[in-house]
Order: sequence, then C-alpha cells, then structure tokens
Amino acid sequence: LCAKYNIPTAAYRRFTNADDAKAWVCDKGAPIVVKADGLAAGKGVTVAMTIDEALAAIDDAMTDGKFGDAGDEVVIEEFLEGEEASFFALCDGDTALPLLSAQDHKAAFDGDKGPNTGGMGAYAPAPIMTEFQIDAVMERIILPTIKGMKAEGRPYKGVLFAGLMITSDGPQLIEHNVRFGDPECQVLMTLIRSDILPALIAAHDGVLKTFDLRWRDEVAMSVVMAAQGYPDGYEKGSSINNLDAAEADEDVFVFHAGTDRDAQGQLIATGGRVLNVTGVGASVGEAQAKAYNAIDRIDWPEGFCRRDIGWRAIARETKDA
Ligand code: GLY
Repeated sequence: LCAKYNIPTAAYRRFTNADDAKAWVCDKGAPIVVKADGLAAGKGVTVAMTIDEALAAIDDAMTDGKFGDAGDEVVIEEFLEGEEASFFALCDGDTALPLLSAQDHKAAFDGDKGPNTGGMGAYAPAPIMTEFQIDAVMERIILPTIKGMKAEGRPYKGVLFAGLMITSDGPQLIEHNVRFGDPECQVLMTLIRSDILPALIAAHDGVLKTFDLRWRDEVAMSVVMAAQGYPDGYEKGSSINNLDAAEADEDVFVFHAGTDRDAQGQLIATGGRVLNVTGVGASVGEAQAKAYNAIDRIDWPEGFCRRDIGWRAIARETKDA
C-alpha cells in the first residue's frame, strides 16, 4: 500500500528464514531495525546499533521463540535518523479527522536505555508536530492510507495510529496501528474537551467530514508505573496505597492498567504496566512536575517508573525560555 500510494516509509524486507535475515543484516550493516512481524505487546522491536545486536535479535525472535508465533517472520528495516512521534486520526472510511500527536518513551529505563516496552510514558501534544508537520502527515500519510484502503475494497473506520519518524526529509511512516496507543490514549483522553462518543459514532456512520473536536490548550503527561522486573519477569499481587493523595490535585488523573482488589479490598498490582499517572499543565515541564509529585505520594515499593519522561521536550522548553 505504501509503495502504491507513495507513502513515505522506511525501506524494509520481510524474512521467514533466520539465515537469510542474518545475511541481509550483514550486507546492510548497522544501525538497523529488527522487528518480530507479529503482535509482541510492543516488545518485538530491536533498534540494533551493532550487527551483533541485530543477529541476536533475529535469534531471539526466529530461533529461540521469544515472541512465540509473532517471531516466525521478521522485518528488517532501515534505521531512520530523527525524532519519533505518534499521530492519531479518526477515520470514517472516506476521510480522516486529525486528533492529537504524542510522544511515547519505549525504553524501560532513564536515558532511553534498556529493553523496549509497550511504552513507559507519553505526553501530548508533541512539540515537534508543528502545523506544517501535521499537514504533511495528513497529506502524505493518513489520507493516502484511507484512500488506498478504500480503493482496495477495505475502507477503514476507526482510530488510525501512525508511528512516525520526523526526519530531515519530513515525516516517514514506521508503522500503522488500528487503535489508540498505550499510554498515548491516556494523554489524549485527558486533553479532549468534547465528548468522544459522538465522534466515534460519526466515524462509524461515515459523516466525519463536518465534524470537529475541542481540546484543552494544555499539555498532558502520563508516566507509567510498572512492576519491578517489567518488561521481563515480575511479581503480581503487591499492595498499592495512597492513590487518593496522588489524585488530590485536580490536574492529576490515575488510570489503572493492571490492578485489582484482593479479597480484603486491598488494591494490588496484577500486570507489568500497572498505573498511568497523568498530569496536566501549561507546559511539558508543568505537566511533568504534576505527574511526578503524584507518583511520589504513591506507596508501592514494588513499582518503578522512569524519571525522565518528556526529557526531549523539556530540554527544548528550557532552551527556548
Ligand atoms: N505506546 C505504543 C503503542 O501503543 O503501540
């Protein structure tokens, strides 16, 4: 579809055989990206800075079965230089209504170090997505995708998520997801002023053309609190306390991703990514301060979070101040 509709994207090749994939990597060199070509809870992508890392990622997926069937095929993709952003549009089969952009932090640890995760924190809107970039994404990526899907007899209705790299040649498509992102959804839903339901119904009914949505003119940041050990092995069942104190600020919202109540009514962790602590403020810095102040009130020794969500945007804010 991308080739047919001229959608700018990273060059890639799909492999069903590990030796062929390895030969390709050795020929192309690093940095290079290795992706398990199935659903792997956001953990199937390795941005390999060396050939050895890429070869190990191919073994993980294709030989060692780290991602189950999702690793039977791998995609080896060109490494693109730039800044990543997630862009969301609501589609009704014919047209698309831009929602907001966001920036996620996929690596488990501060400084974008450690293994890839489903996402450790996000903020919206992404400062790199200027009006110029948004227009480019709509014109060159979102609308051609919708047009192409329709022309191929599969009109798409729903949320279209474009994972982008903003390069010096403009936005390039890394992947599409047909859903909201996690934790990008949490920041979008915190910023939306309109009721989302009529918009979803309009998408279903094919009448988005005349639709509009209102957003808070602020920044939201959501920081993921995960169980220690995530994205690898982690314990379930630890107690979480003091959420009321965390949510005392009216600009703080805590979304539950992996929690439950035990027989005594105690809140417990039941997943890898457990809470999304979300702050809203006039700037990325303010939203970040609200989110981390709330996190500091939460009593959950078995949890951890990154402490630098939004670092890129905050560096930019500080430079511009
Ligand atoms: N946070 C990335 C995703 O939902 O795919």
